[in-house]
Amino acid sequence: MKTRINPEDVFRIVDKHNNSQGAIISILEDVQATYNYLPEAALRIVASRTSHSLVDLFGVATFYRSFSLEPRGKHIASVCMGTACHVRGSRQVLKSFEDNLRVKAGGTSTDGEFSLSTVNCVGACALGPVAVVDGDYYRNVKDGDVSGILDRASRIDGALKMTDDERVFAVSVSCPSCNRSLLNDEHLLDGHPMIRVTASFGRKHGWIRLSSLYGDYRIQSEYAIPKGVVVHFFCPRCHAELRSGRLCPDCDAPTILLLVRGGGTIQLCSRSGCKQHFLDLGG
Ligand code: FES
Repeated sequence: MKTRINPEDVFRIVDKHNNSQGAIISILEDVQATYNYLPEAALRIVASRTSHSLVDLFGVATFYRSFSLEPRGKHIASVCMGTACHVRGSRQVLKSFEDNLRVKAGGTSTDGEFSLSTVNCVGACALGPVAVVDGDYYRNVKDGDVSGILDRASRIDGALKMTDDERVFAVSVSCPSCNRSLLNDEHLLDGHPMIRVTASFGRKHGWIRLSSLYGDYRIQSEYAIPKGVVVHFFCPRCHAELRSGRLCPDCDAPTILLLVRGGGTIQLCSRSGCKQHFLDLGG
């Protein structure tokens, strides 16, 4: 079925991001949030309203695994098929998802409820097999767990918002501009490399290390950062600002954007003390 696109809705999304050059990822994220995928008609409208060509937009949409050019289900399920999960039995887990949903990986169930995909690694190798459903992570999954996981997802209307008790594992992240890893093996927190970036606020500019544990807010920084201050984050390698173009829904501060190894993005509020963050592993 063809998705009906209201051009005004797409114009509003583009205008919300001030049609700025760096905001294209945020624009596409909002288009996808509206239609659950990126319809070609909507991309044409984005191209007509911005300085980006349709080819550019397809390039971005196909580069990031969190974007989909095909209609997706209401719920998104991914099974990690990276080496560590594979040796712990993820193939059997994937088969159980496929059997329960009656769809192969890469497809959407006939009732349009679930899209199923595989990812290569989500950085939680010690806890595999790992499955991610609507942003909720499941570790040490066995094939017998799958119907319960799917039931739970059907009952909860799946926001990707994190809660404080979801600190489960380390996330591997890289810079969206140069794609190089932001993990620093020399500084471990609870045995996991920390995320190292550079940061500036006021007239201060120095290093900052963030916990790579998902949902953990501990940081170390060269300068004490007062609560409530908005911090600018930069990649220490290519020096690009890690800005997503999206504002925090809680405090209106800009959010920063990091790529998750294996596909997807994580966005963190840039205001010191604000815990808002979102993870999207996409389909
Ligand atoms: S291989 Fe599955 S989380 Fe790394």
